[in-house]
Amino acid sequence: MKITVIGAGYVGLVTGACLAELGHQVLCVDNNPEKIALLNAAGVPIYEPGLQEYLARNRAEGRIHFTTEMNEAVDHGEVIFIAVGTPSQEDGSADLQHVLAVASQVGRHLKNFKVVVNKSTVPVGTAYRVQAAIAIELRKRGIQDDLFEVISNPEFLKEGAAIDDFMRPDRIVIGLDKGPHHDLVQQKMEQLYASFNRHHARTLWMDVRSAELTKYAANAMLATRISFMNEVANLADLVGADVDSVRRGIGADARIGHGFLYAGTGYGGSCFPKDTRALVQTALDCGSTMKVVSAVEHVNDSQKTVLLQRTLQHFGNDLNGLKFAIWGLAFKPNTDDMREAPSRVVIKNLLMRGAQVHAFDPVASKEAMHALTLDMADQPQALARLKIETSAYEATENADALLVLTEWKNFHHPDFALLKTQMKRPLILDGRNLYDPQWLEDLGIAYQGIGRRNELALQLGRPTEAQPAESAMALS
Ligand SMILES: NC(=O)c1ccc[n+]([C@@H]2O[C@H](COP(=O)([O-])OP(=O)(O)OC[C@H]3O[C@@H](n4cnc5c(N)ncnc54)[C@H](O)[C@@H]3O)[C@@H](O)[C@H]2O)c1
Repeated sequence: MKITVIGAGYVGLVTGACLAELGHQVLCVDNNPEKIALLNAAGVPIYEPGLQEYLARNRAEGRIHFTTEMNEAVDHGEVIFIAVGTPSQEDGSADLQHVLAVASQVGRHLKNFKVVVNKSTVPVGTAYRVQAAIAIELRKRGIQDDLFEVISNPEFLKEGAAIDDFMRPDRIVIGLDKGPHHDLVQQKMEQLYASFNRHHARTLWMDVRSAELTKYAANAMLATRISFMNEVANLADLVGADVDSVRRGIGADARIGHGFLYAGTGYGGSCFPKDTRALVQTALDCGSTMKVVSAVEHVNDSQKTVLLQRTLQHFGNDLNGLKFAIWGLAFKPNTDDMREAPSRVVIKNLLMRGAQVHAFDPVASKEAMHALTLDMADQPQALARLKIETSAYEATENADALLVLTEWKNFHHPDFALLKTQMKRPLILDGRNLYDPQWLEDLGIAYQGIGRRNELALQLGRPTEAQPAESAMALS
């Protein structure tokens, strides 16, 4: 089939590359000319495992092309995916300006029947707004306004495993309302996704509103599990229990399962924070509240500062003259995405308190520097104390403590003996619970994980001289 994908970001590029891999003829359009130029020059603007190979193969075989020309893009596809960003607005609601701008552009260029598929994560009712925006443009041109159907097909891929998630979906949710084009649209979507339904039917058909809400509910549920475990971990620290044992203990219950039960420094990224905020706002707009989801956000905001609180407990509030190593900048492994990454909160606060920060990430260095430069635009002197290193052990040289913020595989088995000799004081504050507290105790390395019963780490380090650690709110 001929497919158009509007928006060549994390979702659009993965969608385009995977549909091309399945044999479809894909044209990706983006209004960022540098991005399209890079893609046309065989580059890849984001890091996502496997994406480069997919793009290279399908470019070479002529199944995927890139353009900035919307008229060409609208002409090309019988199915047109919208995969542009829906960031948070000030009040937490989803900003639909890109989605609606794209809808108007589609309306301006549409000449024959198209299925317009909303893949962006959008609040309930957006498909109708997209429908209206297209219809307005068609009417301006005196064209009948039933030349298209807008449906919802939310995307559930995880960055870092996006290709695999797209090619092996747990389910494909399609929201399609009853109407004159219902059967034709259903047939086209069945044809489009036929490869995924060969073994057993993975497509879940529902009405548009339910599909839109399903996406938010899924992300809110996953975020809830993370915040819940973070609260359990913080309690485990207070009562001397080990959250990893608790995780295994509850995950073994088939009603609970093992997924998304890891305690850490809070969730970040482009989806959970903005989608939980948008869901809360949707409820408010309807005169209701989402009490659980609001609490999930609140817990997450304070969890992002947990490692910082610990650093201040060890070293006091004035970090002048101290050097901290950071391992991991991206919000999670296997991506260079820095959107709402906990590392941004931690690094900014360390720098503002006078610390030197030497950080390393296997792929997110450039994105991290860009994000932190924006975050600290008004603090150039503090930002000057940040150095992004090209190897993990360059960062730890002479460090007063190592803070682990992203669970990249490269950090799973470090050379602890080297760390011990290299660092000024062997103290690891592990925000991802990568290491066994007992191993490190045996090696004489002070260690503190999240909810891991770490008396040794609490005894060592430079104790807080006077001031108590600041409140989470002041640190975020
Ligand atoms: N990133 C994820 O893991 C993920 C997963 C599932 C769903 N989603 C949702 O998918 C949507 C896209 O997310 P993303 O992470 O790919 O965003 P992104 O910011 O990486 O990409 C969006 C792209 O759209 C382009 N764009 C914006 N306006 C345009 C216009 N008028 N015409 C053409 N191109 C335009 C931008 O230049 C950018 O390249 C969001 O709604 C997001 O919530 C994201």
